[in-house]
Amino acid sequence: MLVWKKEFEFGIPEVDNQHKRLIEIGNSLFELVNDDTREDYFDEIVAMLKELENYTVTHFRDEEKLFDAVDYIGSMSHKFEHKLFVKKLEGYMANLETIDSNQKETLIELLNFVADWLVLHIVKTDREYVPLLLGEK
Ligand SMILES: [Fe+2]
Repeated sequence: MLVWKKEFEFGIPEVDNQHKRLIEIGNSLFELVNDDTREDYFDEIVAMLKELENYTVTHFRDEEKLFDAVDYIGSMSHKFEHKLFVKKLEGYMANLETIDSNQKETLIELLNFVADWLVLHIVKTDREYVPLLLGEK
């Protein structure tokens, strides 16, 4: 389960709130993985992928706008990480038939990918722009 930690908090409300929402979406994924009440999860998986894609695209756009406004030197490589994440989600969306026949495996793989990526991206990549955005650098 994904838990919001103090180290995820930057003191930049716009970013912090969006990151909290991303953690929430990650947790819905966790709940879906642990839901053994049904046989078929396909619609939920597709809805989850769409929600993730929509929300991350919005969040990445807002975040990029914020750090570009202060001429952040790491902008290009940061944007590249965002792009790879969206590409990975698009890869899932392009293979819905495979997902349908491997629902549980897909869910577990997607959860691991999202959870690992989110935490690492927030504590490492995102954290690097924080001093500049807070005017400390
Ligand atoms: Fe980011």
